Amino acid sequence: MITRRTVVTGLTAGVALTALGAGLRSTPGAAPALARSDNPVDLPIPPLDKGRVESGVRIFDLALQRGNAHFLPGLSTPTLGINGPYLGPTLNLTDGEQVEIRVKNGIGEPTTIHWHGLHIPARADGGPHQMIEPGKTWRPDFKVKQNAGMFWYHPHLLHKTGLHAYLGMAGAIIVNDQRTPDLDLPSDYGVDDIPLVLQDKRFNRDGSLDYLSSMPDRMMGMKGDVLLVNGAIAPSFKATTGKIRLRLLNASNARIYNLGFSDNRKFHIIAGDGSLLPAPFETNRVLISPGERAEIIVDVSDQKMAKLVTYPHKAAGGMGMMGGGGGMMGGGMMRRMMGMMGDDNLRFQVLQIQPSSALKTSPAVPSKLIQIPLMKANDASKTRRFVLQMGMGRMMMMGGGSGFTINGREMDMKRIDERVKLGATEIWEVVNKSPMAHPFHIHDIQFQILDRNGKPPRGQETGLKDTVLVGAGETVRVIATFEDYADPERPYMYHCHILEHEDAGMMGQFTVEV
Ligand code: C2O
Ligand code: CU
Ligand code: CU
Repeated sequence: MITRRTVVTGLTAGVALTALGAGLRSTPGAAPALARSDNPVDLPIPPLDKGRVESGVRIFDLALQRGNAHFLPGLSTPTLGINGPYLGPTLNLTDGEQVEIRVKNGIGEPTTIHWHGLHIPARADGGPHQMIEPGKTWRPDFKVKQNAGMFWYHPHLLHKTGLHAYLGMAGAIIVNDQRTPDLDLPSDYGVDDIPLVLQDKRFNRDGSLDYLSSMPDRMMGMKGDVLLVNGAIAPSFKATTGKIRLRLLNASNARIYNLGFSDNRKFHIIAGDGSLLPAPFETNRVLISPGERAEIIVDVSDQKMAKLVTYPHKAAGGMGMMGGGGGMMGGGMMRRMMGMMGDDNLRFQVLQIQPSSALKTSPAVPSKLIQIPLMKANDASKTRRFVLQMGMGRMMMMGGGSGFTINGREMDMKRIDERVKLGATEIWEVVNKSPMAHPFHIHDIQFQILDRNGKPPRGQETGLKDTVLVGAGETVRVIATFEDYADPERPYMYHCHILEHEDAGMMGQFTVEV
């Protein structure tokens, strides 16, 4: 029997730890009460890797490795990382450039590395079919065809994606392009342009990471009670400029974050997954589900400390669906299971931004960002429907199959589920018939959200996206053109980005063919 919560509570005094239990109540709209730390660690910034150019090709070297990280005082945690013990460098790509990435697998077992959000040929995609044997180096090459934005890379081996990502194999990708007009956005990496890679963890007493030790972990996805931000717990960042751009990446296995500042100050969302937004969206909360990114600009010129925290939300579950959604499992049992996982309201301190006494003035946030030609339903030649289900009853009672399905089927490496014509514009309609939310992700393309339950998208969903959270009972329609790359044999994936669901079979394969 593994004990875990104990270690965390026992350490609270020593660490700036902040996962206050679900018992914490707050008045709606009020700033959450958070554990205080007078001596937070500095925010680690992943190194910016620009690679090196050899005969017109930008080359990157990534070494997948096992390591030990020190997240908790006095304890070491066995991890997986890229060019280091935990997480990996931020790869800096430029639109139009030819790139080769040399991925050396030193973890002693097969894995893959996928470039999440990049529009590249299937052979370079790094999905479950591009397996890298231990000791081998995989060298995908491709041309960057991408809007400026933040993307990321992570393992994608069927049944192992969850574990490999959880142990720390993930990194950010920042793409620049020459098309985007000079908008004067904060873009000095590590100074006013800061990536925040969010991963929640659960620790064993000895400091090792606990993974999938309970039934809810498998059903709802693996959630931890400690939040690592670029590998640090509740770190602090010293601001030297009046405005800070935070590039938020939810690299967690299953947890959805509703982020905001403890003083409820407003900020601007300027980008979603795959592009800047047409215009900045002013708000005081930003919700990101696993796989999603959002970029925000926060103003700290008032010289007050800005504390980025997580707020409760109802995005993960749909209790209203519970009665019918449970299959053979009664609504009561289902509710109890969800209750055990009722930690979506865990409060985390994410980052303290401490403004320095002499702040450099930052330019104003422009009122318009980029132009995205709006696609309309009429542009599509075909609509495909994807029904997400969790057959809980079958999973628990009969042990036949996992029960995590898309259109009634679990992932099969040997089955191509959909064949898309090269150049076709299609609507993909994602219908969630399960009792919880699933972040639906599609490889190869960046899509536009047409509508969510018939209503047009707002805020961070108005830009290009590759992952969209589909709540219980919801229907989301996205539209995209499948351009440039055809391969009749090698498929791309679409799947739920809760990694335990993906690993359990909530994934399918499509090819793009001439
Ligand atoms: Cu972020 Cu198919 O993955
Ligand atoms: Cu992907
Ligand atoms: Cu899911």
